[in-house]
Amino acid sequence: MTDAILQQRERGLLTLQLNRPDKKNALTRAMYTQLAEALEGADADADIRCVLIQGSSECFTAGNDIGDFLEQPLSDLDSPPFHFMKSLINCRKPVIAAVAGAAVGIGTTLLLHCDLVYISRDARLRMPFVNLGLCPEFGSSLILPRLLGHAKAAELLLLGEGFTGEQAAAWGIATEALGSGEAALAKARAMAERFEDLAPGAVQVTKQLMKSVDREQLRQVIEEEGALFTQRLRSPEAVAALSAFITRR
Ligand code: COA
Repeated sequence: MTDAILQQRERGLLTLQLNRPDKKNALTRAMYTQLAEALEGADADADIRCVLIQGSSECFTAGNDIGDFLEQPLSDLDSPPFHFMKSLINCRKPVIAAVAGAAVGIGTTLLLHCDLVYISRDARLRMPFVNLGLCPEFGSSLILPRLLGHAKAAELLLLGEGFTGEQAAAWGIATEALGSGEAALAKARAMAERFEDLAPGAVQVTKQLMKSVDREQLRQVIEEEGALFTQRLRSPEAVAALSAFITRR
C-alpha cells in the first residue's frame, strides 16, 4: 500500500485522493489497483453513500504514467487501468469528481463516468491520445460525439485540443465550474455530503436507470477501444511519442 492514493472515510463518504504531486498525480498500475479495490469495497459496503475522487486544489491528474506505458504496456483487458475503469463504471453508488489544474488523458476520460463533476474554471483538460500515437479509451469515442456532436468531439479527439473547466461545464462534461481549485473541492465535498440525507435505495435505483440504456453499447465500445488501444501502445508511432515525452529534457 502506497500513500499515492489517500483514502478517508467519514460517515457515509469515502474520499479517494490522488497524491503523487511530484509527478502531477500521474497514475501508476499500483494506484489504479488501489482505486479499483476501494471502489469495489465502497460498492459492497452498505454504509457508504457516495465516493469522492479528487486530486489537489492544483492538479487532478496528468493521466496514465507514461513510463508505465512504455515499460509494461497493457497486455489485456484485465490490466490495472481496465480494472479501475470497470469498477468506476459499475459502481452503484454516486461517484463525484473534484477537478482542478491538469486533467489529462484518463484524467479527462474518467470524468465521463462520474455522476457529478465540480471543476475549477481554469482547469486544463486534454485527451492527447492521437498525439501520443494512441486512440480514445473507455467509451470516450461514443460519449463525446453524443455530448458535443461529431465536429466538436473531433477537435478534442482527432487533434487533441485542450479545453478549460469552464468549457467542460458549458458542454456538459462537468456539472459546474467554480472560481478556484479550492472552491471546486469544497463544492464537491458539500454535494457529496448531501447523499447522507438521501434514501440510498432510491439513489441507487435512479443511477441504475440513468445508466442502463447505454450499458450494452458502452460495453462493446469499451472492448473495441481497449483492443485497439493495447495494440497501438506497441506501435512504432506510440513508442516514439511516449519515448519523446520521457526523454524531453
Ligand atoms: N507520466 C509520467 N510522468 C509524468 C506525467 C505522466 N503522464 N505527467 C507529468 N509527469 C512528470 C514529468 O515528467 C515531471 O517529472 P520530473 O520532474 O521528474 O521531470 C513532473 O511530472 C512534472 O511535470 P511537468 O511536465 O514538468 O509539469 P507541467 O506543470 O509543466 O505540465 C502537464 C503538466 C500535465 C501538462 C504535463 O506534465 C503533461 O503534459 N504530461 C503528460 C500528460 C499526458 O500526455 N498524459 C496522457 C497519457 S495517455
